[in-house]
Amino acid sequence: MSRYLVFSAWPYINSEPHLGTLLHLISADYYARFLRSVGEDVISVSGSDEHGTPIEVEAIKQHKNPKDLTDEMHKNILEILNAFSVELDNYTRTENEVHKEFVRDFYLQLEKNGYVFKQSTVQLYCEKDKIFLPDRLVVGKCPYCGYEKANGDQCDNCGRLLEPTLLIEPKCAICGEKPVKKETYHWFFDLPKLSEEISEYVKTLDENVQGYLKSMLSEGLKPRSITRDNRWGIPAPFKGAENKTIYVWMEAVLGYLSGVVELERKTGKNLFESFWLDPEAISVYFIGKDNIPFHAIILPALLMASKKGYNMPKKIASTEFILFGQAKFSKSQHIGVWASDALRVAEGEYWRYAILALRPERGDSSFNWQDFDKMVNSDLNDKVGNYIHRVLMFLNDRFGGVVPANESTSKEDEDFSKSVMALQEDFIKLNYDLKIKDAVKKFVEAAELGNQYFSSQEPWSKIKSDKPRASSILFNAVQSIAHIGFMMYPVMPKKATKLAETIKLTKLSKPEKWETIPSGTKIGRPEPLFQKIVIKY
Ligand code: MF3
Ligand code: ZN
Repeated sequence: MSRYLVFSAWPYINSEPHLGTLLHLISADYYARFLRSVGEDVISVSGSDEHGTPIEVEAIKQHKNPKDLTDEMHKNILEILNAFSVELDNYTRTENEVHKEFVRDFYLQLEKNGYVFKQSTVQLYCEKDKIFLPDRLVVGKCPYCGYEKANGDQCDNCGRLLEPTLLIEPKCAICGEKPVKKETYHWFFDLPKLSEEISEYVKTLDENVQGYLKSMLSEGLKPRSITRDNRWGIPAPFKGAENKTIYVWMEAVLGYLSGVVELERKTGKNLFESFWLDPEAISVYFIGKDNIPFHAIILPALLMASKKGYNMPKKIASTEFILFGQAKFSKSQHIGVWASDALRVAEGEYWRYAILALRPERGDSSFNWQDFDKMVNSDLNDKVGNYIHRVLMFLNDRFGGVVPANESTSKEDEDFSKSVMALQEDFIKLNYDLKIKDAVKKFVEAAELGNQYFSSQEPWSKIKSDKPRASSILFNAVQSIAHIGFMMYPVMPKKATKLAETIKLTKLSKPEKWETIPSGTKIGRPEPLFQKIVIKY
């Protein structure tokens, strides 16, 4: 048994999440459930990313103050997570006091350790709005790739980290005016001091991640500013920085630590030390590729600079984008599927299957309604639902709902059980390798095998003439359903739990052997697990 820290990127809650945002939260929930079901020791944490310019810009648009906006949106996202069966151990928010205190202490420690310096700098300033324009308050052309709508802190096209003053033809994101340059001072994180360690560390990460960071690393790491002149954010703790706040990315990533501190206080268990300070503990981060620099460079560098011996991120499970047809999801252009639209069409757990099966692990993937239709109506309803229901109804009608004895086995039974057990082994291995996209299809494949087995063995034609044989077929079919339930659980926890109750499985943990539901077990009344849905497209 190992200890696992399972994390999802913290979504900005400036707007309702779409499928692409839900992907990371659902992946983390899926993975934490999988690991637990195979007996690992797991904690899972994420939360709402409430500060920074994305929130400020939206608050200005809606004529609200940022805190009111995020209070409202945080409540909203809790409901959404519930609807998608996402139950992390701690889904918190960056406005929580434990986080703010943790962040302020953390930066004082970094300052003590010699990784923080103050420097005057020239920043962009909007004379019309009378504010400095950091991060997403300014847009312009990327100096590296020429993309026209790069933000002040990062280019969404090439992923490079930027500084506002590097933008070509910058414009204020609020009013569109051309900003002026104005002198101010800021506190900086001395990233170059850790260049060598970071380069070494990055080599331990997945090749995708290394590829993404290549040019950034070869150009050399630059100091990153920690402070901002914005009012919305965590007040900077440094002496003389009373009017400044901390740059959102520089604090949000520390939520992975503070979220565990908070969980420890809530549960009274010693979690922080045993997970964050155990060098053997394995941390897994589910993020989008644009978040790679912050998770693979900034966060590890902050952890190193703290000199506390915290666990470096071990597995950065980054994904590409889910496209809507051929296009990127875009709020302004109304392209994509948002949480509430999705829930109007189908229940949350159907979406979990679809989203996980679409996980863009090896390149962008594209969502379309035809595929979704097929996943729900064919995979879930016709293959899985139908198999389970026909077996359990047969058992109910012909055997009084009691699992019969395995009286008359045949080669077909052995082949069938071996194939399902092999699928289960595949499923487990794929998950450990973070090949979730493939892993989530295994319960559907098992149901297909089941359907073939059941149809070819025809227990209905043997029930009178050869009852022992019919008994064995039912016995084996019921066992296969327990294995399907195990593989289905992290994908559709509520459905799988309902199934487990029906077949009297007390725990949806890994079935070690084929026979999981003993002969003589009286199962509950079978009800169809899935319904067909009608999608208009
Ligand atoms: N809010 C960021 C985004 O949506 C992700 C933050 S991840 C964190 O891109 F770890 F920094 F919180
Ligand atoms: Zn670029």
